Amino acid sequence: MTDAVDTALFQALDSAHFLHPFTDFKELSGRGARVMVRSEGIYVWDSEGARVLDGMSGLWCVNVGYGRRELADAAHHQMMTLPYYNSFFQTTNVPAVQLAAKLASLAPNAGERRFQHVFYSSSGSESNDSNVRMVRRYWDLLGQPQRKVIISRINAYHGSTMAGASLGGMSGMHAQGDLPIPNIAHIEQPYFFENGLPGETADEFGLRAAGWLEQKILALGPDQVAAFIGEPVQGAGGVIIPPATYWPEIQRIVDKYGLLLISDEVICAFGRLGSWFAYDKFGYKPDLVTFAKAVTSGYVPLGGVMVGDRVGKVLIEHGGEFAHGYTYSGHPVACAVGLANLALMEREQLPQRVRDDVGPYLAQHYVAISEHPLVGLAETCGFMAGLVLVKTKAPVQRFTEAQGVGMICRGYCFEQGLIMRAVGDRMIIAPPLVMTHSQIDEMVALIVKCLDLTYQEVRRRGWLA
Ligand SMILES: Cc1ncc(COP(=O)(O)O)c(C=O)c1O
Repeated sequence: MTDAVDTALFQALDSAHFLHPFTDFKELSGRGARVMVRSEGIYVWDSEGARVLDGMSGLWCVNVGYGRRELADAAHHQMMTLPYYNSFFQTTNVPAVQLAAKLASLAPNAGERRFQHVFYSSSGSESNDSNVRMVRRYWDLLGQPQRKVIISRINAYHGSTMAGASLGGMSGMHAQGDLPIPNIAHIEQPYFFENGLPGETADEFGLRAAGWLEQKILALGPDQVAAFIGEPVQGAGGVIIPPATYWPEIQRIVDKYGLLLISDEVICAFGRLGSWFAYDKFGYKPDLVTFAKAVTSGYVPLGGVMVGDRVGKVLIEHGGEFAHGYTYSGHPVACAVGLANLALMEREQLPQRVRDDVGPYLAQHYVAISEHPLVGLAETCGFMAGLVLVKTKAPVQRFTEAQGVGMICRGYCFEQGLIMRAVGDRMIIAPPLVMTHSQIDEMVALIVKCLDLTYQEVRRRGWLA
């Protein structure tokens, strides 16, 4: 079946008028964008009628799957009731209050870092800008304005605004914007496969990788450092899962020097890792938690920061205006959709489902996938997964960056009707949490088929010899 959209016309209009994010404009206008027209469950269809299994939940966000009427109804109802009102001038709205209270009730109690407050934005990037503003305001109010530096990791992703991209550790992004902005520092990522030493265990590596934070704090001067920010599992960097020892040791170091700890859970929250929030799964207690994406399952834009009591108390009790906010902070429609989305997740017990059912089921499949001759490592965390494409498994020999093996594999996935993302030589997925076992089987069969096709291709090119 083809959908009633003239593909060529829309591709021409697209290339004439629409500059896509993270895109080589010239290359795309030569090839023409794929026009996506509709969706249902875990599938999307393009204008030529081709069905694609969405192994990335859009962009890590459509956790409840496509076509959920409850979310559309909530948006419709709120649009007809109060589509917009600002929250700048001592006004509020019902869904924004209800969602803030709901989020506070879902965030696991982290001792004195209880999360009673929410600061809203419309995206993950904006939320991390808000984090920078809030962290600096916090230290200013405490009379330590010299505490400015926020430490992050190489290959972290924290968004694409000036502050978000600076906090992130993507060298390509830094190169294009004279980034990072001042007072952001980076340490190496906890990527055992790449940075582990011969003979070192993952747990030993986790402690060593966390130790890089302490070294950086000491190099900068502890009284200059404001905070550390990290994703529980690095998503856009390639689903880099840290060893179990990493986060508890980070917590110890952060506590030792009194830093604030920011957990960027834009990808990891709302069931993705089998819990509402990911920090307690990894054994740490952040002061600020960034969220976005799956809070509405991507149906409308919404983001924010969960503000723990340590920061919240200072910001509130000290008084004085916090000179920061957005037109759409606490947008009633976005918050109404967020409430409907969380209610649906609760009713369908999606975090538990990931933890007890589909997460372990996917993990079993990934054990089998790790046997593939092209796969050097295959691992899952909750309902996301990464695998590394290698030339040889023992000893591990990796493809060069210029060979672009990930993009070759991604091309086959596209062709075979599967959305799987390539990050260098890592192939990653983060499927909708509502997938059934048979849909997981279907996805895994496609992954294996695309690995086989990639294997044949790289062999043809003589890269395996
Ligand atoms: C961990 C993390 N933080 C922040 C962002 C930025 O979110 P947005 O694209 O909504 O600005 C992303 C996006 O993928 C992310 O993965």
